[in-house]
Amino acid sequence: MRVSKHVHPVSSRPTAADVALPPALPYPDGWSALAFSAELRPGTVLTRQLAGEDVVLYRLRNGRLRAIRPYCPHLGAHLGLAAVEGDHLVCPFHRFAFDAEGRCVRTGYGTQPPKAALTPLPVREVNEAVFVWRHHDGREPDWEIPSWHRIDDGRQPLRYTSFEMPGYAQDVMENSFDLGHFVTLHGWPQGELAKPVEFDGTTFHISMLVRETFPLLGLREVQVEVDGYGLTALHTDVHTPSLGLEICSLVMATQVAPGRMQLRQASRFVMSEPSGLPPVVARTVSRAVTRLLAGPMFKRNLEFTAADFPIWSTKRYMSPPKLAPGDGPIGAMRHWARQFYPPDRQAHLPGPAALTDRDGPGANGSSTPDGAANGHGPNGSSTPDGDAAPSRTPAEAPGTAPSGAARS
Ligand code: FES
Ligand SMILES: [Fe+2]
Repeated sequence: MRVSKHVHPVSSRPTAADVALPPALPYPDGWSALAFSAELRPGTVLTRQLAGEDVVLYRLRNGRLRAIRPYCPHLGAHLGLAAVEGDHLVCPFHRFAFDAEGRCVRTGYGTQPPKAALTPLPVREVNEAVFVWRHHDGREPDWEIPSWHRIDDGRQPLRYTSFEMPGYAQDVMENSFDLGHFVTLHGWPQGELAKPVEFDGTTFHISMLVRETFPLLGLREVQVEVDGYGLTALHTDVHTPSLGLEICSLVMATQVAPGRMQLRQASRFVMSEPSGLPPVVARTVSRAVTRLLAGPMFKRNLEFTAADFPIWSTKRYMSPPKLAPGDGPIGAMRHWARQFYPPDRQAHLPGPAALTDRDGPGANGSSTPDGAANGHGPNGSSTPDGDAAPSRTPAEAPGTAPSGAARS
């Protein structure tokens, strides 16, 4: 599906333009999705990008997944060219072999291997996606992404896709707080917060009540629950009780280069068992409809997200923005976002209480994000709003990148 002229398949590496551009936002700390589990069958070696660097992912024959820095400790060959042989990763240059722990256990000449090891990166496989940890000061993971698939009957495959485009992961997350655009860009007749946004350490929760028009079925009330994890992962449950429809989506944004992101989207769809039928018939009907509609629903979800692609890939990061009533709690979100950036790189974010949402708490407001939970707090660097960080203009925008969100 061609979703936008701004969007392209996942590329193999950042372009010269990516590296040349002054970034409007720094790389966020935390977990970033680099692949779906299904892309890493046993024996697979993949090279992906994260924050301007290559990461090599591979799965051993025993199923174990590893993420490493890309260069062989022997003479520096790129291990994206390596091969999995049994439970070893074997470098193509001199065929040094590394065991499941990453230790060099063999040379290609049958001689004594040097004391050397691959450099591992923290990696997690959760929600059928592969996340790699990166922190600007090199710290180990101090929070996790939870398993969130409520719709997993073990029969439906996860439908997924990936895109690449110019843009910033923070914008993808900010999108969920931007209540105004759901009406003006996505065409919802109406959408409002069901309750104030909740921030809890590195996570947030948004509850929305929406009215959406379905082909042939008319206007229906839709419940939208969004959970955010860091500046890189969203889980969205969209439930239409009157139709028994529920779709659970993952949207994961990865900053691969200074102004370039990859977007991964996956979803599962289910139609609940209709009432008033014998249980066996109800289950059969539910399964048949789910099978029939899963593809079209995923496509519909992608099209929804794709409406944002031209915006994300050409917009300028405004700091401070000129907020208006009806915007949603964007200021609160930006304040919460501080914890994911280095203390000396926060000029693009509001200082404490420096950016006020025009709706106020209670309407489209939010519970106060303190961001300080779990030791991730805004670290006192209180640079006020300002345009200190250079922003990208459409004319400067690099020209490519990947995709995928449902209700972003
Ligand atoms: S560079 Fe990898 S074995 Fe020599
Ligand atoms: Fe959007």
